[in-house]
Amino acid sequence: METGEYVAVVSIGDLRPGFMTTHVVEGRDIVIAMTDEGPSVYDGYCSHAEFKLGDCRLRRGCEIECPMHGARFRAVDGEVLKGPATEPLERLESRVEDGRVMVLVDWLL
Ligand code: FES
Repeated sequence: METGEYVAVVSIGDLRPGFMTTHVVEGRDIVIAMTDEGPSVYDGYCSHAEFKLGDCRLRRGCEIECPMHGARFRAVDGEVLKGPATEPLERLESRVEDGRVMVLVDWLL
């Protein structure tokens, strides 16, 4: 595995719209938020105080809510909807290929 490669994480059919799932890819915790618009992939930690995000139901089907201090993020792009977070979630490059969610691994040395 080299940095700059796409890695298959999960079958798209295993993701339910309205839910977020946790995964580990090449040693990194990530989350995939599934909405009607498809999967969005983020670093697995909240941008506010690095709380580790977990499997959960999306609020109203389209918002990620951090259980630690209640910050909310738009599931499709990670933008902040409600504080205390001020920075968006860290989005990871991804695409769907052959029915699988592929994530660009760019964090290996
Ligand atoms: S760590 Fe997520 S809202 Fe504070």
